[in-house]
Amino acid sequence: MAKEFKRHDGRKFNELRKMGAKVGIVPNADGSAEFWFEGVKGRTKAIAAVYGPKKMHPQHLQDPKKCTLRCNYNMMSFSVEDRIRPGPNRRSTEISKIIQWALEPVLMIDEYKNMVIDVHMNIVDANASTRCAAINAAAMALAHAGIPMRDMVSSVSIGKLDKQLVVDVDKTEDCVFDEGEGASDIPITFTNNGRMTHIQIDGNIDKKQLMEAVNLAREACKDIYEVQKKALKEVGE
Ligand code: CDP
Repeated sequence: MAKEFKRHDGRKFNELRKMGAKVGIVPNADGSAEFWFEGVKGRTKAIAAVYGPKKMHPQHLQDPKKCTLRCNYNMMSFSVEDRIRPGPNRRSTEISKIIQWALEPVLMIDEYKNMVIDVHMNIVDANASTRCAAINAAAMALAHAGIPMRDMVSSVSIGKLDKQLVVDVDKTEDCVFDEGEGASDIPITFTNNGRMTHIQIDGNIDKKQLMEAVNLAREACKDIYEVQKKALKEVGE
């Protein structure tokens, strides 16, 4: 019988870190939320603030056919042990674009032509899966802002180390994946109706294992959705 895989923090292969969320944390924004994954060696926490829909300026950026969703992902300098240089970089530009793609399918914003919705996401603490935490916070902030949405979205990262898949990668695991040859990190986003809006595959994985990863993410996203839903309900009370 195969030896049971042991995670460094004692989690089961399909167990998320502890999670938390809060809605309405930025008074000046139209909608806002924070979401965090809390592990034994640190936390990943994202804050999201939504502004809009508002008229797009400068005017030449306006899209007469639809509303523009403009996402901005940023890691605070103090979010990791080695201070991060402030300002945009290639990684944050790419992640911002990916988050836009992950969120857009659930937004019903076609009627807001020539307008823009700005979603600012800041990572306060980074212990891996920051893009997933940012998506989870941003989806709640959009709902809080009253933006019409078909569904909520929830995001989680599935890690693969040789044959073993694990749910919700933390930094210690992420470092192993960076070094391991058969390793990969697969962030996935699902709507609460079980539709995928985003997947990234960093590394190699065969079709069968990819399907397993997708199924693990789908189940994990149900738990994340419950945390988001609870936080959204609490702000309405
Ligand atoms: O954070 P996420 O897993 O979405 O993206 P990543 O690029 O795979 O980064 C994994 C982790 O590396 C981050 O969550 C941070 O903990 C760390 N990192 C860092 O320490 N310094 C950076 N400039 C970028 C990432």
